[in-house]
Parts: sequence; C-alpha cells; structure tokens
Amino acid sequence: MMTAVVRVDRTHPEPAAILRAAACLRRGGLVAFPTETVYGLGAHALDPTAVRRLFDAKGRPSTDPLIVHVAGLDEAAALTTGMPAVAALLARQFWPGPLTLVMRRAAVVPAEVTAGLDTVAIRVPAHPVAQALLAAARLPVAAPSANLFSRPSPTRAEHVLDDLRGRIDLVLDAGPTPVGVESTVLDLTVDPPVVLRFGAIDLESLRRVVPRVQATPPAAAGGAMPSPGLLPQHYSPRTPLTLCRGDAASFAEVVSRTMAEGRRVGVLATSEDAAALGHTPTAVADLGSGHDARGVAARLYAALRELDAAQLDVILVRDFPRDDGLWRALRDRLRRAAARTM
Ligand code: TXA
Ligand code: MG
Repeated sequence: MMTAVVRVDRTHPEPAAILRAAACLRRGGLVAFPTETVYGLGAHALDPTAVRRLFDAKGRPSTDPLIVHVAGLDEAAALTTGMPAVAALLARQFWPGPLTLVMRRAAVVPAEVTAGLDTVAIRVPAHPVAQALLAAARLPVAAPSANLFSRPSPTRAEHVLDDLRGRIDLVLDAGPTPVGVESTVLDLTVDPPVVLRFGAIDLESLRRVVPRVQATPPAAAGGAMPSPGLLPQHYSPRTPLTLCRGDAASFAEVVSRTMAEGRRVGVLATSEDAAALGHTPTAVADLGSGHDARGVAARLYAALRELDAAQLDVILVRDFPRDDGLWRALRDRLRRAAARTM
C-alpha cells in the first residue's frame, strides 16, 4: 500500500485535502490526522471492516478499545445510551478538547470498536484539522494514537510515517501537535467518575467542574484491567529506559557512573538537569525548563523517539519532582516507558 502524505495548514486546512481524506474514510480507508494531543489513526467507526484493518495496521491487540472522535455533543449522544447529566456538564467545559468520556455504548457502535465492552470512549477534538475532517466526513471516527502498538505516541507526521508508512492510506501533515500528551480518559459509567488515564486535562480542572472525580485506582494488582491503556508497560522505547528517583545531583552521579561502565548513555532531561550533568553523555534530549509542564509535554514523545533512534545502550531520565497539574500525566508516561526504576 502507498501512503499518501498531504500537507495542510494547521489553522485553515485546505478544503481539497480535507475532502480527499474524508472520502478515504468514507470508503473504509485509514487516515492519520493531527489532534491537539497527538496524531490519531482514523477509521470509519461504524464500519467493522475498516476498524479491523485499523487494529491490523497498528499491530494493536483487539482487546484494547478505541476512542471515537465526533463533531459535538449531539453526535456523542447518538453513540451512547442514557448519557449521564454530568457528561453534558463536562462537555460544555472541556469540548472541543482533550477529554475522553467513557459512557454506555449504543447498539450502532460495532463491538470491534469497543473490544466487546458495553461502554464506548468518546471525545470531540479541538484541532482545526480534526474538526474539518469530522465535519467533511460526517461520520464518527475511531482513532487510536497513530503509532505502532507499544511505541510512543506520534506528535509529528514523521513519527506516523516512521511507524506506519505503507500500512495506511493517507497522512494529513499539519506539523507538530500542540499539547503532546494524550487526552484524559474519564469513566462516567461509575459514580463517582474515575480517571482511567491521566492526560492533557488535569485532575484539578476536572474537580472544579465535578468535585467528586476520583483518581485512577492503583494499577490492577493481578485483578481485571479497568482500562487496557493502563497496561503498566505501554509507551516503551526499544532502548531500555531507567527512571531515576532522587535529586539532580544524584542523577548526575548515576549518569557519570553509567558512562564510566563504557555504555552509550542517552539522557532525557529538563534544561536545568542537563546543565547540572558532570559528564557529557552520548546523547541528550532536552525537554525544556522543568518549570514549564506544557513545554515538557510538547517535547516528551519526540525526545523519546530521538533517543530511541540514537543506538544507545540505555536511556536515563530523572523522575519529575512535581505531581500537580500536567506533571501527573507526564510522570505516568515516564513510568510506563521505563524498563526499570532506581
Ligand atoms: O489524545 C488521545 O486520546 C489520542 C488522540 C488520537 O485522540 N488517542 C489515543 O487513543 O490516545 P489510544 O487508543 O492510544 O488510547 C485510548 C485509551 C486507551 O487507554 C483505552 O484503553 C481507553 O482509551 N479506552 C477506550 N475505550 C475505552 C472503554 N470503553 N473503556 C475504558 N477505556 C477505554
Ligand atoms: Mg496509544
């Protein structure tokens, strides 16, 4: 299969490009497109064959359900039964935007989309290209992140092509995605609602609208997996990544010691931590200031991919010292990327 790459303006996408992508989706094709969080790999959500093709292209286990992207709250309601009142409240505050709501599935949603669950995850993306595509296709679009299974999510069209070239029909390339981490997934089928995946909308913001929102239950200890995205190892670079606790000085020591062992060391670090290193590692990916969670989020996945391509023996990263706002999601992604913690 030839993958077409179509560049589009990120704020005013060219209608011809959008129509081409929309037609491809309507025919059952696979289209990667930018959302405000990461690139998604879209398929016609009501076409089981298209959805099966999507799982194949990603190498994703069919037990891992997809997020359905829609144009607005009415379109979301059509895919659910008994939408709770709290959904409208949250939608008014956070849609379009990076909040995914898990609700009861209506019969029109194929079981392929939801991995056989009786619930469906839905969001309304804010990226102008995603919005234009949904408006032109007039379809619900099932879209996981457009990476091969277990690779970091793609924040640039090049990442999509690195993973999926030849496996999908088309990529709409609108440059880097602005947020860089995935949407927050909130389960509304239980009361109080529970965060299944930390993401771009932080817990504090959710609680300002719905104070009783609960944080994720601790990763299933042998029990049933509440959300397959909670797999402890998920965003894994191929190079083993070690997550280091402790302060910047002890991190610099770990880096020096590992280099002294003659290993090719890559460091993923905030600018401040990078400046505090005693020795220069083989490769450093700078995440920007540790005071700027948004900047770190925007760079994180590209930095992981860059280091993963640098033929290193090990990637070292210091755990972020904060747990508020977006940091919670960022630390969650580091933990999932880590092969070990020290
Ligand atoms: O920002 C995002 O959410 C991106 C963009 C493309 O929208 N999408 C994304 O999709 O990250 P994916 O497939 O990589 O992650 C979907 C997450 C997974 O953790 C999955 O388990 C969870 O949503 N999920 C989907 N349907 C669910 C359901 N019915 N119940 C519980 N969790 C669900
Ligand atoms: Mg994903």
